[in-house]
Amino acid sequence: MGETITPVRERWWKEAVAYQVYPRSFKDSNGDGIGDLNGVTEKLDYLKDLGIDLMWICPMYRSPNDDNGYDISDYHAIMEEFGTMADFDRLLEETHARGMRLILDLVVNHTSDEHPWFLESRASKDNPKRDWYIWRDGKNGAEPNNWESIFSGSAWEYDETTNQYFMHLFSRKQPDLNWENREMRTAVYEMMRWWLDKGIDGFRIDAISHLKKEPTLADVPNPENLPYAPSMVSHLNYDGLLDYVDDICGNVFNHYDIVTVGEMNGLDAVHAEEWVGENRGRLNMVFQFEHVRLWEPQAGLRPTPAVLKKIFTSWQEALEGKGWNALYVENHDVTRITSRWGDTEHHWRESATCIAAMYFLMQGTPFIYQGQEIGMTNTRFASLADFDDVSAKNKAKDLKRMGMSDAEIIAFLTRTGRDNSRTPMQWDSSPHAGFSTHQPWLKVNPNFEMINVENQLHDPQSVLNFYRQMIHLRKREKALVYGRYDLLLDDHEQIYAYSRLYGDERFVVLCNMSGKAAVWDEEALTLEGAQCVLANVAEWEEGYRLRAWEARVYKFS
Ligand code: NOJ
Repeated sequence: MGETITPVRERWWKEAVAYQVYPRSFKDSNGDGIGDLNGVTEKLDYLKDLGIDLMWICPMYRSPNDDNGYDISDYHAIMEEFGTMADFDRLLEETHARGMRLILDLVVNHTSDEHPWFLESRASKDNPKRDWYIWRDGKNGAEPNNWESIFSGSAWEYDETTNQYFMHLFSRKQPDLNWENREMRTAVYEMMRWWLDKGIDGFRIDAISHLKKEPTLADVPNPENLPYAPSMVSHLNYDGLLDYVDDICGNVFNHYDIVTVGEMNGLDAVHAEEWVGENRGRLNMVFQFEHVRLWEPQAGLRPTPAVLKKIFTSWQEALEGKGWNALYVENHDVTRITSRWGDTEHHWRESATCIAAMYFLMQGTPFIYQGQEIGMTNTRFASLADFDDVSAKNKAKDLKRMGMSDAEIIAFLTRTGRDNSRTPMQWDSSPHAGFSTHQPWLKVNPNFEMINVENQLHDPQSVLNFYRQMIHLRKREKALVYGRYDLLLDDHEQIYAYSRLYGDERFVVLCNMSGKAAVWDEEALTLEGAQCVLANVAEWEEGYRLRAWEARVYKFS
């Protein structure tokens, strides 16, 4: 100890605790079974009380809803089901009135096929907006290349008006914008400024890793001879992508005092600094995906503590003193973390809180996905008709074609599907979990009578109160914001342990990521002179032993 660490530059968004709202599932204020903006406003005091400073709201723009709002048909209007622009303005004002900030989802890899830009683009080959999207002739009576869409099937859709195909990396109702086109970029930048001038506090940038496509659009290797090649090498973090990012930052972001977080699938820690290095003037943070394996079937599998240590530590070390991490374990595209990494059957509360302490107290801005703070779990649907997600439905068709039974497909989607994290927020034990007075658009998780906010609000041992205590601890202790991360007990098979060092202050976070008691040697890590400042069990034994999924945080002074 006594070693002096140079703090990275202090910024409000580094000290903030962030919360992600999926508006369709958060709170329905008008009884139509669909969450809405007034529902979010209604719950601002709940978020404030939890200790939230920054809210990211998933797309609430006008949209035909093929991909629940990630297919935008009007960037300047609100989805009718969610309310009006006046409702949005009120949400922004009320958020600011509570000293909180609001960032929006910026979806500019693609629009909806119902966006007026695309309607013009598809109208004729010589339309001035033709080149705003990616159009190609077919090849030998088939698609222009063999790329697979991230949502299954070909990445191309035939359009008979002009006898050409357009590219869609996601659903066929989400045509990709052509970022090579300067006029398109100018229009997109104007839209960004329109929102920033309204007073929003920044953006989470959707699918930013896919903006750049390999210029010749050549076929990619398809060794297994599948109908389409699943490899993303030609459009995931492709060479030249950073030029687009520089253009966006130079033209728009750098002129505002905002926070930006890029959704950066495909990025590893080695290259992280290029994106968020503070001297680079690019993004403030990225959501990396190495620990959650977005779009991969392995996403449903539980990683060992060793794997988690390797991934998180590589990011912590790569950005120390250089840039800033976005910390998260859940979002609307991945399954619920307690179901995935924890043990919902035997140690639901302990594993939910242990995972929380493990990721939340590292260096970076922690994000909580709605419902994570009460330990919501994956759901169970009885029939294929219960699933809503466009990617799940496409996948189900593929699997059926391959000969899988409905039961097998349901089992696969239950393990991996995005609907798991999109079931309505569980507010209380009344019908529809207090989310709505009407049958919700997606079935409520049947466990809502046990897992809900109301049950947990006044229970000192609840997952919710653990989050609350942990958030307040982080707010009190600068070391937990800015302190350097060092992995401890590196080779321990059960315990994930690390320290945070800031000037003379030192914290140690200890998490037993397993269902069995775990011990360690005092010589490897002593707690002498330390005080336990947070634990996920009511009483703990002093000593070098943690029970199943036990987590403790120590302060050395
Ligand atoms: C990433 C978003 O988080 C996801 O929900 C969406 O389906 C795709 N991008 C396409 O916009």
